[in-house]
Amino acid sequence: MLTVSARENTSTLPCGYKVDGTPGQIEAIRQVIDLFSLNKDQLTKIIAQFVDEMGKGLDHDGATVAMIPSFVPGKPTGKETGTYLALDLGGTNLRVCKVVLLGDGKYDIHQRKYVVSETLKRGKMHDLCDFIAECVGAFLSEQHTSTDSERLKLGFTFSFPIFQTSMNRGVLKQWTKGFACSGAVGKDAALMLQEALHKKHINVDIVAIVNDTVGTLMAHAYQEPDTMMGVIMGTGANISYCEKIANITKWKQQDHGSAEEMAINMECGAFDCERRVLPVTVYDQRIDRQSLNVHEQQHEKMIAGMYLGEITRQIMLDMIDRRLLFGGRSSSELNRQWSFDTAYMSTIEKDTSAKLLDTGHILESIMNIPSTALADRQMVKIITTCVGRRAARLHACGLAGVMTQTRKLDTACTIAVDGSLFEFYPNFEKNIMDALVEIYGPKMKDNVKFALSRDGSGLGAAVVAMMAHKHTQK
Ligand code: BGC
Repeated sequence: MLTVSARENTSTLPCGYKVDGTPGQIEAIRQVIDLFSLNKDQLTKIIAQFVDEMGKGLDHDGATVAMIPSFVPGKPTGKETGTYLALDLGGTNLRVCKVVLLGDGKYDIHQRKYVVSETLKRGKMHDLCDFIAECVGAFLSEQHTSTDSERLKLGFTFSFPIFQTSMNRGVLKQWTKGFACSGAVGKDAALMLQEALHKKHINVDIVAIVNDTVGTLMAHAYQEPDTMMGVIMGTGANISYCEKIANITKWKQQDHGSAEEMAINMECGAFDCERRVLPVTVYDQRIDRQSLNVHEQQHEKMIAGMYLGEITRQIMLDMIDRRLLFGGRSSSELNRQWSFDTAYMSTIEKDTSAKLLDTGHILESIMNIPSTALADRQMVKIITTCVGRRAARLHACGLAGVMTQTRKLDTACTIAVDGSLFEFYPNFEKNIMDALVEIYGPKMKDNVKFALSRDGSGLGAAVVAMMAHKHTQK
């Protein structure tokens, strides 16, 4: 542990961080900076472990990083046309989309969002499926889309770990991201939804069950066929990429036609659940212990939007209890689990005013802390920055793992990304790139191209539905 003498002042904090506070506060914040920093050696070790776990997942079922084959051979060419439905379940909302693929990488999309209540998220799977089927029915009548003469084909983006057994069949392994419906684990999610649709006489065929990362990859590949990875940096976190079928040693199916590659849904949120290399802090332990999926999704719990605000809240509470923040006073809002939204962190990171006024607003007006001193606000800003930066650097490890596995460290590599962290969190992309440059040098800036792929789960699911449909017609 670092020791700081009573005379030490603000200028001794690393990275230009500044706290106009007491030596005790400065020492505490220095410990947070230290705890949440990841140096080049640590990053390199994590990447090596990533590559190792990817190898195990490609080799056999039941590995920590599951490496699930998507069953969709190859990638789209961008020339495909047709009308498909897409459903997106897995983040904050349910989305129903009608996508018209126009060819030349162009498309039209009509969509509607429906809120999935907390009750539904933790109720019975049958009720959730009935709700989804009702939304599909309502959407189709609103769109004046009749399914009387022709059954519409649907791509179902179901963004949870599944054991996929065919293009449109997948058994749920476990819930993540705060979902916990009973009667779903061990059951085929696509089949259950298909039954619910059938019960309501909605003539729609689920032709593909799609992970959102695979959707993101395919959606971008429809416009830029060279796309290599599809990544979600949002409520949850995960990566998919194109792997040579010859390298998927556990893959015993023969019906992939002439395709040499297949998208793999890595499910890398589960990376290092054994905690061999991840720098799990006491705060991460608390998050895990209080979560619905204890000992699962360790990597995700350190990098995904659902958890970053909660990690920050835990650090603040710890400092409050040690009387180093807000004069030792908390509020009922701040004491409530999940109350500190990751979106607040974005605002705090953006706040460059001398007095940190926006930070003060969040703490005092939203979190109801009676009053804050400048030192409090500075400390909260540093905590936020540390948690956000660590998340970005850990995301970089996953990407680097895939680039190592696919030998893309020295060539152009287009990475399609969807998710609120990537889109809205200040400096997220920069922090990822900084980590890559730190490890592999400046060539990374030329080689790696990040592309925001906003419609991953909608367009992507439709593209996969189209590919699945074409494949079955062969
Ligand atoms: C799920 C993945 C999904 C990711 C991003 C994780 O919790 O396990 O399937 O891709 O969230 O939504």
